[in-house]
Amino acid sequence: MSDRKPVFLVLGAGAGIGGNAAKRFAKGGYHVVLARRSNSGGLEEMVRQITDAGGSASGQLIDAALPGSIEDLVEQVEANIGPIECALFNLGAQIGNRKLADTSYKAFEMGWRLATFAPFRLASALFPKMVERGSGTFIVTSATAAMRGNAGQHSHAAAMGGRRMLCQTLNAEFAPQNIHVAHVVIDGPVDAPDTLGKMLGDQFDAYKASKGADGVIDPSAIAETYWHIAHQPRSAWTHELDIRPFGDTPWWNDN
Ligand SMILES: NC(=O)c1ccc[n+]([C@@H]2O[C@H](COP(=O)([O-])OP(=O)(O)OC[C@H]3O[C@@H](n4cnc5c(N)ncnc54)[C@H](OP(=O)(O)O)[C@@H]3O)[C@@H](O)[C@H]2O)c1
Repeated sequence: MSDRKPVFLVLGAGAGIGGNAAKRFAKGGYHVVLARRSNSGGLEEMVRQITDAGGSASGQLIDAALPGSIEDLVEQVEANIGPIECALFNLGAQIGNRKLADTSYKAFEMGWRLATFAPFRLASALFPKMVERGSGTFIVTSATAAMRGNAGQHSHAAAMGGRRMLCQTLNAEFAPQNIHVAHVVIDGPVDAPDTLGKMLGDQFDAYKASKGADGVIDPSAIAETYWHIAHQPRSAWTHELDIRPFGDTPWWNDN
């Protein structure tokens, strides 16, 4: 149980941005609910780290691609733990660079299901409750692909562009109802072993070393920004911001 702590739900809680955001909100007094797809050991470990540090946390395995899964998660957390004050949608849909001929209809559709439809489903399940309570915060982690298409990014960029437009549309309807919607463009690589780390495999450490000190984004620093966004005064809400390591050029400079 949450001991009447505010609840922070993370959908997509690996050891990178999702897990670090959970740690930050737990440190700030929230009960955090970590949800991820497959790694029960990793999930338990993260919950243990948070509770060992004096925080309040619980975990749930869920495949967000399955119909009803996100909706059930919201209902279950609200019924058994408490009202979700802040939700972080943190699922990506990166499948690596694939040429058009190598991008199947199935892969394209799955990109949309995870990147665009899944945050729509989370908002559909959660926003009516937040509206009824008169407040709430919805932070959506996003990516360079939300801002521009690029070679090999047919599925990812189309779906993440949809994510960005969805967030703008949610914001237009719900900001006046005191729901803070933020779309955060992560415009560079993150030190995230469960996502980028798995994509790069054996090359991950060499890749990080090639970027030099602070050349890869520290997910705990992103978490600090999320904490700030969630606690801004509403006269000065951020809807969109971008984050990149100091050595990287922003997406609009990169060829
Ligand atoms: N990592 C980067 O370099 C990078 C760069 C730019 C933008 N981003 C954005 O950052 C966000 C991800 O953050 P992160 O990379 O730091 O990852 P993370 O928080 O370490 O982990 C994300 C977690 O999402 C879970 N997940 C994936 N598919 C799922 C599904 N169908 N249902 C439930 N959970 C699922 C995975 O769980 P399991 O491991 O249990 O399968 C994964 O551990 C995404 O929005 C992505 O677009 C990341």
